Amino acid sequence: MLTNSSDEAVRQAAREATLVQWLREARQVLVFCGAGVSVESGVPTFRGAGGLWEGQRVEDVATPEAFEYNPQKVWRFYAQRQAGLITVAPNPAHTVLAAMERHYPGFLLVTQNVDNLHERAGSEKLIKFHGSLMETRCTECRRVTPIGEPVPLAEIEADRLPHCRCGGLLRPNVVWFGEALLRRHLTEMQEFLAGMQGGGQSLLLVIGTSGAVSDGYGIVKDATRRGARTVEINPDPTHLTRQFDLILRERAGVLLERVWREVDPKP
Ligand code: OAD
Repeated sequence: MLTNSSDEAVRQAAREATLVQWLREARQVLVFCGAGVSVESGVPTFRGAGGLWEGQRVEDVATPEAFEYNPQKVWRFYAQRQAGLITVAPNPAHTVLAAMERHYPGFLLVTQNVDNLHERAGSEKLIKFHGSLMETRCTECRRVTPIGEPVPLAEIEADRLPHCRCGGLLRPNVVWFGEALLRRHLTEMQEFLAGMQGGGQSLLLVIGTSGAVSDGYGIVKDATRRGARTVEINPDPTHLTRQFDLILRERAGVLLERVWREVDPKP
């Protein structure tokens, strides 16, 4: 007779087999990601034990008011996170998502992550909803500039904050609480959602996000309305869990590597 844990293993295998089948049938895939995708690379999440917001008031480092009040403190937080990117590398979740982009006729990856691991894994059809750690924006002329190297912490500590060639103070090009997303990002995502259909053609994968910000921007409900199949990949329940057709309680890198091998065995 089966024990409870082997029962669960059988159910998990059945859910993975369903995901493999859905990935094979799909022609159009939208992926919506959060911090969980980078956990297996060693990048911390925001919420929960050990998260970036633990012991840190969001209002002190991730709002326009915080930057106005104490730009040095905000820059210290972001310069540390920029420096952290040097020691990490893409994990199989990033690699598989880049492979999906090459595989599907219709593909879009919308990430809330401000790290650069998707790009480093080769993703190009990529919207960085919350901006990028490795870009600065001028508070005067608004010019956005990619930066190859982290802003040196020693400069921040000496209160020599980075400035634009126009003389304006630079800020990290990330979206802070209380700020709007870029309209062109929303439009691009909405256009992709508008093209989704039923009959197994369209698939939404929501990976490694708690959905705590703006209820996941309503993406799951919108995709469901269009007839798309919807899947959550996350070791833990989230704010969005009840909205999905299929839920896989597993780490993103481990799961995606395992199922993608079944869909596209090419190395
Ligand atoms: P959260 O920290 O809110 O959630 C991270 C999610 O990752 C949780 O649901 C975890 O269960 C899940 N997780 C942990 N390990 C995982 C793994 N190996 N594989 C898959 N999932 C895993 O991060 P986000 O949802 O990304 O915004 O947060 C959204 C936004 O809130 C962030 O972009 C940031 C934050 O405040 C700003 O800074 C503006």
